[in-house]
This record gives sequence, C-alpha cells and structure tokens, in this order.
Amino acid sequence: MKVRSVSILTPTAKLTHAYKSEAPGLSLTRAWCLCPCSVLNVSLGCEEIPVGNIEQDEHGEGLRLSEVRLANLAEFARREGWATGVMPLPILRLEASKLGWTPVPTRKGEEPVVELRPKTSDEASPRSLSAIHGLNAQPLHTDGAHFLDPPDFVVLHAEDPNDVATLLWSPLNKKTNSKYPVIPAPEYLQGGMFVVGGGAEKFLASAGAAGVRYRYDPGCMIPCDERARKVVRYFEEVAKDAYIHEWTKPQQFLLISNRTALHARADANNSSDRIITRIAYQAEISR
Ligand SMILES: [Fe+2]
Repeated sequence: MKVRSVSILTPTAKLTHAYKSEAPGLSLTRAWCLCPCSVLNVSLGCEEIPVGNIEQDEHGEGLRLSEVRLANLAEFARREGWATGVMPLPILRLEASKLGWTPVPTRKGEEPVVELRPKTSDEASPRSLSAIHGLNAQPLHTDGAHFLDPPDFVVLHAEDPNDVATLLWSPLNKKTNSKYPVIPAPEYLQGGMFVVGGGAEKFLASAGAAGVRYRYDPGCMIPCDERARKVVRYFEEVAKDAYIHEWTKPQQFLLISNRTALHARADANNSSDRIITRIAYQAEISR
C-alpha cells in the first residue's frame, strides 16, 4: 500500500506525523508525536476509518487531529456498534468535550468517570451486575438502562493491558451478525414489557425501539410478560455470537454505541489487575 507522511496538529499543538494511505477509500492508519514527550502514539484502531473529512489546519499545512478523529470513530461506532483505538485518556476526554459531548453517570450518585475493577458480589454496589454475578461473566447489557435516557456512548479505557476481555454484540456488525445486512428484529423486542429500575422511579419500557435501538439490562429490568421473557432468552442466545475484545495494548479504548450495541465483561475470576476507566456520554450530535 502506498503511503505518504502528513502533518497533524494535536490538541496541544504538538507537531506529529502520520502515514496516510493514498489508496481509494483513504484511511489514516498511524500517527505519532515528534515532540520529546511522545504523548501521542496513536493508532486509529479500526479498519477502514474514513478520513475524507479531515481538514487542513488554519495554516493549510497540517491536519487537525482532535475532533475529526473522535467524530470518525463515533460515526464508525454508530454504523457498526463500536470502535476501538489507542489514545491517552486526557486527550480522548478533550476531544469528546470539543465535540460537545456531556459526561454522565451510569448510576445515580456516581461520578461520570469511574474506575472499574472486578468485584465480588459482597464488594459490589447493591443492584449492580457485579452484585448479582460477582467475578463471573456478565450478561450483555446497555449501560444506564435504568435511566429514561441512557447514554449514547460508553468509553472503556485501559491504561495497561489486562486479561479480561469485553464482549460486544450488535446486529449492525458483521462480526456478530453473520446475516448482515439483514437485521434481526423479532417482534417481541418492541412488544415485550419490562419494569425498569425500582422504587418510585421505576417505569415500563421495551428492550427495543424502531430501527436498531436497545435498552437492556437483566440486572435492573424485570420481564412483565411472555414476550419480554423471550427477549431475555434472545439476548442470552446472541451472547454466544459476541465479539471478544482483548485488552492487549496500553492506552487502548473502546467507544461503544450504547444504544445500538450491547456489551459485557468476561469472566474475571482469574484476574487481579484489571482496571478500566469508564466514561458515559450524551452526544448532542446524535440527537
Ligand atoms: Fe457495562
């Protein structure tokens, strides 16, 4: 593949270089920082990330790395359920903020930025998936499913590699839907009713909406009818097709389209050092 070097301005205005494919359907494959701090050694992570809308900087000699790349990753995630990349968390947060994304908690009383470590049932917050499943594998779910408006995106970021995978499933992704572009849409997804949450704030909702739009968490959604029980079995069944994302690189992250893909942590019984930072976002551009 023919490549050429292009300049990029990072959010901190450090000059970086990248290789850019000149093949049809351009894709920027790798960029790194030339400054001594070397804070950037980023890979765009996903195959076929489009860069057609990367813009020249104000001096006409470089490319602005910030908003464009996260916007492209978000577009990729919307289209395929999730995207992956490698980036220091502060830069990722800066890019999200430039896009107008709002960090939001996924549980009441929590901060929007949470450090996740595997917990036993006894250590976990009440009513969390860890309280139910402990260190065992979690079921596929939507983060913040008990909110009326669950977050659009969930970022999972690992400073260091670890050996507990994250499972991902979306009918929009060929890796987890062998019949793509045929999108399975069982009628019970929209028809089955669940009681979501508890206490005075509980409400009724289905697990699916028109198109591909999910709200599902068996930890906080109780099926009310037979169609909803079918939904539970459906998501248990498709979990067998889930894509296994391995955390193999420093500064690796997943950008999950929280309403079009479900995710879960794999079995963590044999891990003692998994630390993942989670940030959920409401993204104005998706509304
Ligand atoms: Fe989650």
